[in-house]
Amino acid sequence: MYSQFVDTGVERMRCAEELPELERAFQDKIDSDIKIEPKDWMPEAYRQTLVRQISQHAHSEIVGMLPEGNWLTRAPSLRRKLILLAKVQDEAGHGLYLYSAAETLGASREALIEALHAGKAKYSSIFNYPTLSWADVGAIGWLVDGAALINQIPLCRCSYGPYARAMVRICKEESFHQRQGYEIMLALCAGSAVQKRMAQDALDRWWWPSLMMFGPPDAESIHTQQAMRWKIKRHTNDELRQKFVDQSVPQADYLELTLPDPALKRNEQTGHYDFGAIDWSEFWSVLKGDGPCNRQRIATRRQAYDEGRWVREAALAYGAKQDRRRAEFS
Ligand SMILES: [Fe+2]
Ligand SMILES: [Fe+2]
Repeated sequence: MYSQFVDTGVERMRCAEELPELERAFQDKIDSDIKIEPKDWMPEAYRQTLVRQISQHAHSEIVGMLPEGNWLTRAPSLRRKLILLAKVQDEAGHGLYLYSAAETLGASREALIEALHAGKAKYSSIFNYPTLSWADVGAIGWLVDGAALINQIPLCRCSYGPYARAMVRICKEESFHQRQGYEIMLALCAGSAVQKRMAQDALDRWWWPSLMMFGPPDAESIHTQQAMRWKIKRHTNDELRQKFVDQSVPQADYLELTLPDPALKRNEQTGHYDFGAIDWSEFWSVLKGDGPCNRQRIATRRQAYDEGRWVREAALAYGAKQDRRRAEFS
């Protein structure tokens, strides 16, 4: 039980008096890079920010299985199928670690999943785009997992212990995902003219949504400053987006593919690549629920949840039976 949850009048008064001191000690810990653990005192706003971020992250992992799951039965070889299956299973594991991390903050997994199914919870808007060809699986691994990796590596140093520790393993797996995607693109680009065109078409469709994955520009990002003070976030959205562009340009050159941005140009003064304006109206409309696949994604998740009910019930019944047996023999 966390002290801020104790619901008695006396406790509330005590907490109110101690609040400035507790907050100072909390921020001192963060400034000294000491991790905050589930039973430590934390400001309610810190807890809520983390629950929002970790649950959105968990939902993104789970919904993120769907676009690529679409190609599991149609992967072009047994080897490709095995790799893709392993990758999609990794994403399920990431979702489960992250729901567990959110639970350490007092959030209920059922309530989080219910919010997702009711269309109230957000998840990364990129997963509302369709996968039209096998090359999309390559582009997703290369760009979407690549962008996720850039976003997530700094989270290994996040101030909240359970989230930071979950991210260490997740990032190792994301790095494998990024390389498997790039390897698909390499194979396609070294193949026939038709395969190369497929790769270019996938890049054309996934490039801009990948840039949007870093979130709104810093000037419009309402949570960034506080999240940085709390060391939940270590870099701003625009810094991470720039890193992604700088990393992707030589990778696209090596594939001999063209990034779909005529304004993309190396800036000799900054040493970075300047890029064209992002269509934020598309981002907001997809986020609001009007992307090409939003409804389909939620319907698929709901159906999977309903069809898995008997598995959850069986697991709970088995757990209860084990508990009874343990009680009988102790
Ligand atoms: Fe993942
Ligand atoms: Fe991934």
